Amino acid sequence: MSSSSLAYLENMARNYAIQAVLKDKEGNFGEAIKYYKGAIRVLTKIIQLYPNNALNTLYKEWIDQYKKRVKDLENLRTSLIPAYGGTQEKDSDIDDMILRDKPKVTFNDIADLRNAKKAITESIIYPTRRPDLFPLGWPRGILLFGPPGCGKTLLAAAVANEIKGAFIHADAASIMSKWLGDAEKKVARLFKKARELSSSGKPVIIFIDEVDSLLGTFSNEVGGEVRVRNQFLQEMDGLMDKSEKHFIFVIAATNKPWKLDNAFIRRFTKRIYVPLPNKRARIELLKLFMKKIKVSPNVDIEKLADMLEGYTGSDIRDIVMAAHLRTVSELFTKNGGKGEARPVTLEDFMFVLRDRKPSVSKDLVKVFDSWYSKFKAL
Ligand SMILES: Nc1ncnc2c1ncn2[C@@H]1O[C@H](COP(=O)(O)OP(=O)(O)OP(=O)(O)O)[C@@H](O)[C@H]1O
Ligand SMILES: [Mg+2]
Repeated sequence: MSSSSLAYLENMARNYAIQAVLKDKEGNFGEAIKYYKGAIRVLTKIIQLYPNNALNTLYKEWIDQYKKRVKDLENLRTSLIPAYGGTQEKDSDIDDMILRDKPKVTFNDIADLRNAKKAITESIIYPTRRPDLFPLGWPRGILLFGPPGCGKTLLAAAVANEIKGAFIHADAASIMSKWLGDAEKKVARLFKKARELSSSGKPVIIFIDEVDSLLGTFSNEVGGEVRVRNQFLQEMDGLMDKSEKHFIFVIAATNKPWKLDNAFIRRFTKRIYVPLPNKRARIELLKLFMKKIKVSPNVDIEKLADMLEGYTGSDIRDIVMAAHLRTVSELFTKNGGKGEARPVTLEDFMFVLRDRKPSVSKDLVKVFDSWYSKFKAL
């Protein structure tokens, strides 16, 4: 994969963030700061290089959160205050997670995923509009699962736009660093905040991205994950009480659902598989990513979609970008960057595809399929 591709950078930012949180937990603040700064640097680069990227508003929020954490850690280091020991509980932690700028993604910007959109519409959008039509209640917990790069985060971001309410966004990396210390109390406060926000009748979505790393069974107990998890389950039970007519939804996303245990999975009564794109979806993805670039008539979308079997949505985005980049760099080498780039041709795609394998293996897809068939009836 080319070192400038968006997926590569996103992955790099994620790895930095995970390392940062691990070091943060261990109390190794110097290292944590280094990794947070790495994540900030890469996310900033993404926003600069890809100003139209759908998830940039989320990335900006993360940058702000990591910057704040770096500042806190730097203060901690100089004043030698014990990490979280005597620090006061601040509701501003929770306020930080409420998205002020809604992401600029709507369902229309998401190729295919018809089943997922339908499930979300039926379980969130209809109940919030006409609760009277749902005498038996509606699901409060929705789990999005599937291989990396197929649109889970994108879907959740679009929900924020489709509902007129509050969206509390918590990705595992920023949550875990926030929730060091008396983690379970913060979980309780997060849900309390959600209840406050929804008391006027407006919907509130709590979105927990990469939930496996937060609540997965593998987590060690040193950091209090077990208590966090139990608190979380208890809060979910509170939400599921049918007599409560509030509009609080918890959407969790994971690409490793097998790391979640039954107690957790049972609370997510709606489980939505976000699979690798099929041919129809690949055609829609190609059309979506080609909207803003010139494409030669020799590019047969159907045929290209066949060639892209096994590739994820994010792979396809990167392939289109890389093919287009060839025309731009040609313009620079030949013309010094003046004039217009030529249209992207089938040969550009063939060239790019020569050294790109799908980022998800066939074996992994089988693991998802079998997990799904096992848990859909739970
Ligand atoms: N169905 C889709 N429609 C439009 N874009 C898509 C789609 N699927 C993937 N993409 C592109 O791939 C990128 C990555 O998607 P996203 O972050 O939603 O994946 P994910 O399923 O959350 O992956 P992970 O499990 O790694 O978090 C998106 O920002 C978008 O550019
Ligand atoms: Mg995601």
